[in-house]
Amino acid sequence: MSSVLFAVLLILLTSSSSLKDSCCVSLSLLFLSLKGIFAYLNYCVPRTRKEIFETLVKGLQRLEYRGYDSAGIAVDGPNKTTTDSIKNAICLIKKKGKVKNLDEELYKKDSLDLDEQLCTHFGLAHTRWATHGEPSAVNSHPHRSDKDNEFVVIHNGIITNYKELKEYLIIKGYEFESETDTEVIPKLIKYVYDNQEGDSVAFGKLVERVIQQLEGAFALVFKSRHFPGEAVATRRGSPLLIGVRSEQELLTENIPIQYNSVHEKNSRNRSDSVNSINSVGDGSAVEYYFASDASAIIEHTKKVLYMEDDDIAVVTGGKLSIHRINRKHGEDPVRAIQTLQMELQQIMKVVLGGLKDHLKEIKRCRRLIVIGCGTSFHAAVATRQILEELTEVPVMVELSSDFLDRNTPVFRDDVCFFISQSGETADTLMALRYCKEHGALTVGITNTVGSSISRETDCGVHINAGPEIGVASTKAYTSQFVSLVMFSLMMSEDRLSLQTRRLEILNSLRMLPELIKKVLALDEKIKAIANEMYQQRSLLVMGRGFNYATCLEGALKIKEITYMHSEGILAGELKHGPLALIDKDMPVIMIIMKDACYTKCQNALQQVTARSGRPIIICSQDDPEIVKNAYQTIELPHVVDCLQGILSVIPLQLLSFHLAVLRGYDVRSGHNFLSEAICNDAHLI
Ligand code: BG6
Repeated sequence: MSSVLFAVLLILLTSSSSLKDSCCVSLSLLFLSLKGIFAYLNYCVPRTRKEIFETLVKGLQRLEYRGYDSAGIAVDGPNKTTTDSIKNAICLIKKKGKVKNLDEELYKKDSLDLDEQLCTHFGLAHTRWATHGEPSAVNSHPHRSDKDNEFVVIHNGIITNYKELKEYLIIKGYEFESETDTEVIPKLIKYVYDNQEGDSVAFGKLVERVIQQLEGAFALVFKSRHFPGEAVATRRGSPLLIGVRSEQELLTENIPIQYNSVHEKNSRNRSDSVNSINSVGDGSAVEYYFASDASAIIEHTKKVLYMEDDDIAVVTGGKLSIHRINRKHGEDPVRAIQTLQMELQQIMKVVLGGLKDHLKEIKRCRRLIVIGCGTSFHAAVATRQILEELTEVPVMVELSSDFLDRNTPVFRDDVCFFISQSGETADTLMALRYCKEHGALTVGITNTVGSSISRETDCGVHINAGPEIGVASTKAYTSQFVSLVMFSLMMSEDRLSLQTRRLEILNSLRMLPELIKKVLALDEKIKAIANEMYQQRSLLVMGRGFNYATCLEGALKIKEITYMHSEGILAGELKHGPLALIDKDMPVIMIIMKDACYTKCQNALQQVTARSGRPIIICSQDDPEIVKNAYQTIELPHVVDCLQGILSVIPLQLLSFHLAVLRGYDVRSGHNFLSEAICNDAHLI
């Protein structure tokens, strides 16, 4: 949690000059698809099987923070030649639970010679978060086409038409072993392979035919024993990037896309001899890393290529080429290999530069629409009031999914902000595309340089909060919040009447690191409160005005990492229903600061105590009136009203952390596993 402080100290409020133009990544890459893809291909680079295992496991460990419940890998082997051995056999090793369980399992396979040197090899690795079917070895990835593992695949995303595909494939005689949506993919590629005319269809072409049948979102990496040493990867709506490491200078850093007209004629032979100008690698030693998140790649190489929707990346004979079915109007026909570090350094020097470039246009807008999910949405709720006050334009705050469900009218003179820690959240990304189609100017506020949202927006801010180690977004929330306040300050810099207010906010921003330290020092007290309430089933959090967002965000953190029911309630709504829940046994936290809502919050407090409620009150220091009516208090230092939320959320973040630990959850992995012992403890289930 000291990360909260760290975030503000580092509040870079530095940003990209233009998110669209800065095709680059930082170590803070993160997105929350709750699954992880990592694959490693060494071409003419001798590696022992043990080294390959280590690389695959390390890749998965880098993705662990995103939450998962099982993990698996696919490698070549067993290598021993026996009479019944299969040519180019593939071995799958999958395990429920932690990556370390999988790691231990890898070394138990007697049939796999750990010291064997594999000059060219392609290995897949995956962490899964169960959505279709329980966490189990059989449901985890890689999934396979058949018992001989002819084709294996790892998948992030969701296949929405999997039921129809499964029914069709079952009729065709394919047997399914898992409950997942993913399993239709390896079955489908085998079906396409089995039904090809002749046997010369290239691996990439098979994948191309498969994805034409898929609906939903996916990032996929394929391996096949029919195509040893070859890799095929593709994506639609889920991120995927490729790292390249080579001792040799790359032939090109701009790979021209090969469109279907060329690809259609590809036979396996043709694909082997891809023109070197259309590919990376000249057939000499090279390594490729495929990952859903750059954090798994960056320690191996800084040279990466971001795949776009419907790109098909093929590595064959050590050469990487990119294929697409059709060329869309206006589409960039080239994929660039970018150098991460250099871009990162450049970004660190820029101060809200991207917004500066578009400020005139933004100032002319008729309406601001701020769009996000979960914590990112709460950052928008937290800053809406100050945005309205300082920009003097109407501000709509929208949950991405609901915004899309409503087909919300959007106009050319709207400016739409997309708030996303990961920069990859599907609903927010779709909302962005929707707003672009309607001609609005789009602004990204993300923590992930190089993410889809940062690349597809017209401009924006990289909050540079550093990696969120865990599913729960904390310091990113703080940084999103501060970025939006900074934006409102930028918008009002030439408004004379607002100068006093602006100065007050600027001074408070400077004080924030010290004030945050003071709030963090309350940790022992908060831990004691957690000790009292960790066995409760529910917790209500109430507040209004500038602190309403804290109630929503606090309740989300509690739900997300402690698995306790929690609700953020607008104190003004208390009398319209939620009051019925209050009695002496219902844990209630109220936020009552000395601001414009103080008197109204006191009324809510009276209603709570009148029903024998025993509120824990997060309040301003030196407020004896409140202390009298509280069961307990958490007293916060004074800061300007619009920044109170930065401080008031910290006790709730700390509380959810302690509650999660006391309830037996591993906080780092977000959606997590109960230890077996605690699982059996009925009062928690
Ligand atoms: C959800 C997470 O999946 O996505 C939340 O559980 C998160 O914690 C939300 O706030 C939005 O994510 P992002 O990356 O768009 O900010």
